[in-house]
This record gives sequence, structure tokens and C-alpha cells, in this order.
Amino acid sequence: MTRHSESGQPIEPVYGPDALSDWSASEKLGEPGAYPFTRGVYPTMYTGRPWTMRQYAGFGTATESNARYKQLIENGTMGLSVAFDLPTQMGHDSDAKIASGEVGKVGVAIDSIDDMRVLFGGIPLDKVSTSMTINAPAALLLLLYQLVAEEQGIEPSKLTGTIQNDVLKEYIARGTYIFPPKPSLRLIADIFKYCKAEIPKWNTISISGYHMAEAGATPAQEIAFTLADGIEYVRTAVAAGMDVDDFAPRLSFFFVSRTTILEEVAKFRAARRIWAKVMREEFGAENPKSLMLRFHTQTAGVQLTAQQPEVNLARVTVQALGAVLGGTQSLHTNSYDEAIALPTDKSARLALRTQQVLAYESDVTATVDPFAGSYVIESMTDDVEAAALDLMRQVEDRGGAVASIEQGFQKSEIERSAYAIAQETDSGERVVVGVNRFQMAEEEPYEPLTVDPAIEQQQAERLAGLRAERDGEAVAAALDELRKAAAGDEENVLYPMKKALRARATVGEVCDALREVWGRYVPADAF
Ligand code: 3HC
Repeated sequence: MTRHSESGQPIEPVYGPDALSDWSASEKLGEPGAYPFTRGVYPTMYTGRPWTMRQYAGFGTATESNARYKQLIENGTMGLSVAFDLPTQMGHDSDAKIASGEVGKVGVAIDSIDDMRVLFGGIPLDKVSTSMTINAPAALLLLLYQLVAEEQGIEPSKLTGTIQNDVLKEYIARGTYIFPPKPSLRLIADIFKYCKAEIPKWNTISISGYHMAEAGATPAQEIAFTLADGIEYVRTAVAAGMDVDDFAPRLSFFFVSRTTILEEVAKFRAARRIWAKVMREEFGAENPKSLMLRFHTQTAGVQLTAQQPEVNLARVTVQALGAVLGGTQSLHTNSYDEAIALPTDKSARLALRTQQVLAYESDVTATVDPFAGSYVIESMTDDVEAAALDLMRQVEDRGGAVASIEQGFQKSEIERSAYAIAQETDSGERVVVGVNRFQMAEEEPYEPLTVDPAIEQQQAERLAGLRAERDGEAVAAALDELRKAAAGDEENVLYPMKKALRARATVGEVCDALREVWGRYVPADAF
């Protein structure tokens, strides 16, 4: 019986020369590090330097997260990746009523420059690259990072890292949006301009498919809807007067790596080829760096099981191998216990060690794009590419990514895929080891790591102290300047925003000032 890929295409039991009979290596592949980048974005890929081992981490207060970052650096992690709690991601202070119960839970609580200073205390910001998973308030966290680096005596031109800053996927999948699409896209264009002028080595956005995949998207949907979002961002920046080669080299992407690694390798290769063609043919980009789809990968959180959690070590290893064979630039490997609770120090270390085994014990770093020319991988790369291009055309026919989001197109497509996965799992057609096959009658005991509920009180006391000490008039004046800039179309809002944050305005106060001017996004299907 012919199996089907996650994207719904048949996987032949045997592939041979006829599978590539009219396939041309020069047209489909090119050289590594050259257009259309199918084989990878750098000529030498991992033979020169392994991918960045960048473990997503953050919980509780800035003090606790700072300790975890130092432990990860000690264990050999090559880049930082900050997880923020939901109040921070939604632009609320820890002492806001709406924040209750969420402070420090899914990430670190950051309310002001005081917390950011503690978060990176003792970490030289000119020596690490830091990713921050923050979207609607991304500008604020970037500016707080720059202000703390300034206090460390580090020039903004020396700073390297990434803000996720991808609000379109938040409307589609993850949900941490604040403002409506129009002001959100204005703010993103302001960030592109600000970074070009002030922090030129910063990756201004991480256009994400991961969360759509976690919501049920197939590999073809994941890359199609992500690249369609990317096209929307490029159009927005060009419409805001930027030359495509001025900002495109600093765009980056973020995808999942599933256990079905043959299709995942094909997916990454297809995504690079599609993006290179779009950037050259639709936007006339000339700088080779504008054509390169550089991406971060995280192993599939949704495929972790709470049952027999150690089995996740095997899943994460396979998924990480797929990301590496697919040419990722940066990788996060999930901890085996994350389906149950926050990773412990030990499980976080094991997740990193998994990458180190791949990088330093296996031979996957010895040669570039080892699957090139493979009958099955090249066929699957063509298949995923064709399916993704068809979906991108459907988005375009609806008026582009924002118009499609407003029509609910991406969301309904992903929900349909998620439903099919649930049905296949319930019927047993889709095997989940330990869940619907090979179960154990008695699960072994496991002690989860929990976040101390006293954190909420601690953060509220820190905020009360900050508000008592700071120059309230200077903060109020700076927030007024920010409101004025946000109400107009001319001024880049990051400059008055930086002034307010330096005066110790809080994340919630800055976002509230913008909510007053731009309003809040209410999804069409809200009830
Ligand atoms: N040849 C030549 N140069 C090379 C090279 C090679 N083989 N390998 C690396 N380099 C150079 C690069 O050119 C780069 O220099 P540059 O910045 O001057 O161009 C430098 O070495 C660093 O290499 P990369 O840029 O490839 O690697 P980074 O790790 O610095 O950046 C990235 C990778 C994908 C571009 C970047 O955007 C990034 O780090 N993204 C991470 C995003 C992230 O961590 N997200 C977490 C999300 S978790 C989440 O969403 C929450 C939950 O819901 C899942």
C-alpha cells in the first residue's frame, strides 16, 4: 500500500532513475551557497562551523532565567534564546489584573529596563547572539536589550541576534497579537528602518511556520503560509520606502522539524528554492544575501508525549537530524519532559547534548547537503515545492497574506489538517508510540519542575519600587511623545519609545500608550 507524506503526496515504495528523468541538477540545485540555494545558504555549511545550538529558555524572574542562561553557556550552547511569559508577550505588566496566574509561567517576566538588566547580568552582549521570542511588543524588548548593552559599554553596531517580530502568524496560529494588522505592519517597518540605521547586524524578524505546524499545518502549508507572510513583510517595507536590499539580508525564518524527516529535509530545501526565486523575480533583489532563506528550527513540540517521556529523546534526535540534513542555521532541541512541565537542568542539558552528538560524533558536518541527487529527496523536494506554490497562489488570489488572514483562509486550512491528524491518531492509523501502541499499564513516576507562585508578588513589589523611584514626569512626557509619533505616519516610533524605556517606563505603560492610539485587534471569528 502506498504511504502518503504529511503534505498528502504519495511516497513510492521505491525510487529510481526514472524519478528524475526530466530533472536538471543545474536548474534545481545550483552550488551550495549559490542561487537558488537548494543545497544550503553557505558554500561550506557545517564543514566550516556547525549550526548555532540555541536552546529556547526562560521562566520565573529575570534572576532565575539569568542562572539558566549561564548554565547553558557553561554546557556549550552557542546562542541564547529568550522565552518571555505571556503578560510580557501581550504587553502587560506583571501587576496588571489580566496578568494574574501567568507571571513567569511560560517564560521570564520582563516589566522594565530593571528586569532586562538582571536578565543579562554578567553576560557580555557583544559576545553572544540572542534570539528573543517576542512579537507584538518586539520593538520594546529590542530597545531594552540595546539600552542594557549601552550600559555595558557596547555599541549597538556590535549587537547580534533576532527578534521574532512576526505578528501575522500570531493572527493565524499563536495568538499573542495586540494591535490590528495595519499599525502592526507599520511598527514592523519602523523596526526594519531603525535596525538598518542603528543595529545593522540584528536579524529584524523571524518569519515563523513553527506555530502553524504545531497547530496542525502540513509541511506544504507551513512553508506556503510562512513565505506568504514573508512576501507581505517585504511588500510593506518596500511600500514604506525601503530598498529591498537594504533590509532583506536581515530577514530570517523559523520552521519545525517533524519525525517524518525525509519530507522535512525536502521541505527545507524547497523553501530555500522558492524564497530565492520570489526575492529575485518579484522584488528584483540583487544582493545574494537578500535571496538566502536563513532559518532556525525547533523540534516538534506537539509530537512529544507525556506517556513514557524518555521515548521523546529518540523523537528529538530524529527530528534534530532532519533539521541538520535540511541545512538549518540554528537549532533548538526540545527536552524530553516538556510535554509534562518546564525542562529540568538535567533534561535541558540532555537536549543540548543531543545536538553535540550530531555535530561532533556523527559525520553530518563532514559534507554539504548529503541528500543532493537522491531519487527520493529530490522527488519529494519537487513535490513539496509544487504543493507549497499552489497554496501561495491561493493566498495571492485572495489578496495576499493579510487579506487571507482576514478571510480566515490559513486558519481554516490548518484546522482541516489538524482534524485529519486527530482522526488518524484516534483510529490508530497514525501510530504514536506509548500513546496508541506499545503503551505501558503503569507509567513510571516523574517529579516536574514548578514555578514558584510567589513570583507574582515579587514582580509587583519590584514594579512598585520602580514607580516610586523613577522621574514620573519624565516618563509621562516621553509617553506623550510616543502617542504623538504613533498617531502620525512620519515619525519612527522606536525613537520616542527608547526614550520612554530609558526613563524606566514599563512594558505595560508603553503598550497601553500604543493601544490608546492604535486600538486592539479583535479577530473576525471572536465571539
Ligand atoms: N560560512 C560562512 N559564514 C557562516 C557560516 C558558513 N558556513 N556559518 C555561519 N556563518 C556566519 C553567518 O554569515 C553569520 O554572520 P553574519 O550575521 O554577519 O551574516 C554568523 O556566522 C552566524 O551565522 P548564522 O547567522 O547562520 O547563525 P545565527 O545563529 O547567528 O542566526 C538565524 C541564525 C536563523 C539567521 C537567526 O535569525 C536566529 O538565530 N534565529 C533564532 C530564532 C529563535 O531562536 N527562535 C526561537 C523561537 S521559540 C518560539 O517561537 C516559542 C515557542 O512557541 C516554540
